Amino acid sequence: NLPSSVTIKEVGPRDGLQNENQFIQTEDKIQWINMLSETGLSYIEITSFVNPKWIPQLADALQVAKSINRYKNVTYAALVPNERGLEGALEANVDEVAVFMSASESHNLKNINKSINDTFPILKPVIQEALAAGKTVRGYVSTVFGCPYEGAVSADAVLTVADELFTLGIQELSLGDTIGVANPKQVEEVLLEVLSRFPKERLAMHFHNTRGTALANVLVALNLGISNFDSALGGLGGCPYAPGASGNLATDDLHYMLENMGIKTGINRDQLLNAALFIEGKIGKLLPSHTMQTERGK
Ligand code: HMG
Ligand code: MG
Repeated sequence: NLPSSVTIKEVGPRDGLQNENQFIQTEDKIQWINMLSETGLSYIEITSFVNPKWIPQLADALQVAKSINRYKNVTYAALVPNERGLEGALEANVDEVAVFMSASESHNLKNINKSINDTFPILKPVIQEALAAGKTVRGYVSTVFGCPYEGAVSADAVLTVADELFTLGIQELSLGDTIGVANPKQVEEVLLEVLSRFPKERLAMHFHNTRGTALANVLVALNLGISNFDSALGGLGGCPYAPGASGNLATDDLHYMLENMGIKTGINRDQLLNAALFIEGKIGKLLPSHTMQTERGK
């Protein structure tokens, strides 16, 4: 049942950098994204067009999105919370718009300052206008496997948000383990519910590795036929409005596991590690991925 190839969606420039304390210089972001484009990655989430008061690390979204080299075989995506954000994304001519919300009320409120029900009318015109502009649209649902404020989240809550977002026109849904609490058994249970409603081709998994369960969770999803996975190079990342959310699943660790299982990713390992070394030098701290630790030990 394992897929023969997987699309790794690199979210480091957005999910990774949004959670670093210091501001990475705009030129460094641009150079890093250009390096990522050369690795063979086919999808990069480059920034987010959110309120810079909330996420100062990505205050240079427009400049970054406009200045990177655009490779033909790479889809460049950006996070967009509302119509104001969409204006920026369209001005920068990104390929894909990613809207986002949570399955739990409290996280939705802390993250985007409104209730779940009040979020749909905000996202509706964003999705419609993005599609009308020829963009593809992806949706994220956060806190799928647990909420930092409410604890357990029901599969029904996830399905409600998923249903509504697909109805509004998103083409792919990324299921987020925002605070890295998911375990493989839970991933199987939740995914079976989601897969009973939506085709596997339309789904992606977005694991954070807070408790070291991300790769185990990936394996479960692979066995259920999922072939889209979000990850951040070196294990950068988190969510500033989810206390305790640590790094995303590391792209380099995911790449190692998949390629050694015979699952193709199209990504060149040496170039990937070069890009990791580059951003490690810029953030001024060691990247937490197992791969980077191993490389340092050589
Ligand atoms: P709000 O304060 O409710 O917005 O924020 P508002 O519409 O009332 O506007 C208030 C001010 O924000 C105004 O400025 C607007 O112009 C400005 P003022 O008049 O006060 O100077 N504003 C904007 N500025 C720039 N770009 C915009 C924009 N919109 C309004 N797009 C809002 C609502 C959603 C904007 C705010 O809550 C926000 O920016 N939140 C950011 C949340 C965020 O980025 N979180 C991290 C990403 S989500 C995540 O990491 C999870 C994920 O990885 C999946 C997973 O792991 O589960 C995706
Ligand atoms: Mg995330």
